[in-house]
Order: sequence, then C-alpha cells, then structure tokens
Amino acid sequence: MEVTSLGYVLIQMRDPSEWLDLGREVLGFDGSTDAEGRVRLRMDEAPFRYLILKGDEDRFLRAGWEQGEAEYNATLEDLRRHDALLSEGDAAESELRSVQAFVVARDPSGNEFELFYGRSKSSQAFVSPVAGARFVTGSLGLGHVVLPAHEHAATTDFYQQILGFGMSDALTLPPPAEGAPEMRINFLHAGNTRHHSLALFDGPAPSGVVHLMTEMHSLDNVGQCLDRVQAKGLPVVATLGRHENDRMVSFYFLAPGGIPIEVGYDGLLLNKETFVPTTSTRGDVWGHVYDFPG
Ligand SMILES: [Fe+2]
Repeated sequence: MEVTSLGYVLIQMRDPSEWLDLGREVLGFDGSTDAEGRVRLRMDEAPFRYLILKGDEDRFLRAGWEQGEAEYNATLEDLRRHDALLSEGDAAESELRSVQAFVVARDPSGNEFELFYGRSKSSQAFVSPVAGARFVTGSLGLGHVVLPAHEHAATTDFYQQILGFGMSDALTLPPPAEGAPEMRINFLHAGNTRHHSLALFDGPAPSGVVHLMTEMHSLDNVGQCLDRVQAKGLPVVATLGRHENDRMVSFYFLAPGGIPIEVGYDGLLLNKETFVPTTSTRGDVWGHVYDFPG
C-alpha cells in the first residue's frame, strides 16, 4: 500500500538546541523549542519536518512515512503479518506529531520507522529566518533519507511489497578500497514525483542514517548554504557535485550528532507513466569528492 511521501524525521540528541541553531542559522529552517526541550524544525506549511528529541545518545531515530487513511489501515495488517509492527502511537504522541494516528515498525535491516495518516498543517505561514532560503517540499515530502541496509535484498523487497515504493535506480559502485566489496545502493520512489524519497545502502552508518537530503529552490540557495556551513566550521564531507541518477547538484556536511546532510538543487522529477527503472555504475556526473566518517 503506497506511501505518499517522507513526512518527517525524528532525531535524538543529548542537547537538541544544537539542531535548533543549525536549523535556523545554517539550513534556514524555522525552529522552536517546547517545555520538554524538544526542537521542531519547519521547512514549509507542515507543523515540523524535523523533530529532535532529548535522549542520552546522539542518533537518527526514525523516518516518518505518510499514507492515506485506507492505505494506512491496510498496511497495518501487512506489517502485523510480517511481524514488523512494534507499537501503536498513543493520543499524546499522535498530537505531538500533528497526525491522526501512527505506528512504529521495523524493516528487515532493523531500521525503525513510523507510518502515519491525517497530518494537519500549521496555521502559521513558513518564513525562513535566512532571507531568500526556500525548499522543495510540499507533496514531494521533506527530501530523502538513505538508510543502512545489511539485509539489502530483503529490505528492498519490504519497502516495495509492504509500503508500495517503486524502484528508481539500482546503483553498484566499485570497491572503495582493494579487497573491499562493491557498494550497492537501491533508490526508491514513493507516491510522488521525486526521483527517490528513500535509498538503501548495503553498508553501515554510524549515526543510524547514511544521509538526509534537503532540496532548495536554486543553485544560489545551495551555494549560500555552503557558505554558512563553512562559516560555522562544520565538516564538509562531500564537495559540490552532480549525481548521475537524480541529477541533483549538491554538497554534504556533518550536522550535530554526526548526521550527514545533503543540500541540493535541481533533483529529477519522474513521469511515472513513462519512467523505466535504471541501473547505474557511477554515482556522479562530476564532483562529490567524498570524505565520510567510517
Ligand atoms: Fe542523496
């Protein structure tokens, strides 16, 4: 049953205010902190796209996937059948997310995720604290998430069969070092035209996520964000470049908690009537010199 988009992500930090500063000063997200010290970051009319919870360890927690109500109810049955359902959110947790209902589940590689329906919009217009910063979101979701997936084939099947994702591109890269295995990344689209909302990497990710992508409206938006990243002294872990499969021009940096963020522009939109999934053997048209931790 088809997921429509990536609605939100949850991150856990010992000090969530680090992400409030990052959101407001570097990325251009609008942010607020509540009485419990949780940070909400907005990119558009959604009440938040990033929720940073306080916890004893810095790490990525979960992606939150949106469905329609009928699809949601049907998917719950499938998740139960596959022994993937972990818990159902209570009223207070649903209110925190501004959703009608949600559940927590787990994919075959052990990544927890949330599935929800019925999210309300914020009554306040989104205004970036950074002049001119604008994001490509709305029905396309907040961007994309790349997850570690040691059970690569089973996890790819899971997202296709249970959550209705479609394959966009299967990328195989040569071994990064002699004696190392090839690297495989499967890119999947949800029920919107973004080339991929999810990708699955067959290797580890120390922070719990390989990276999160946020898409901006112009190359100037991206370049000015890179200036802000460098002015803050945050580590740039991939230079500017253009990806082969989704044509995104982007750079990557390390956010608090060691979470890699891709900031991009010009991502490919699919025509789902005519699109044929591809296989690639190179990740980039140009640029993207990678220096990821681990
Ligand atoms: Fe990406």
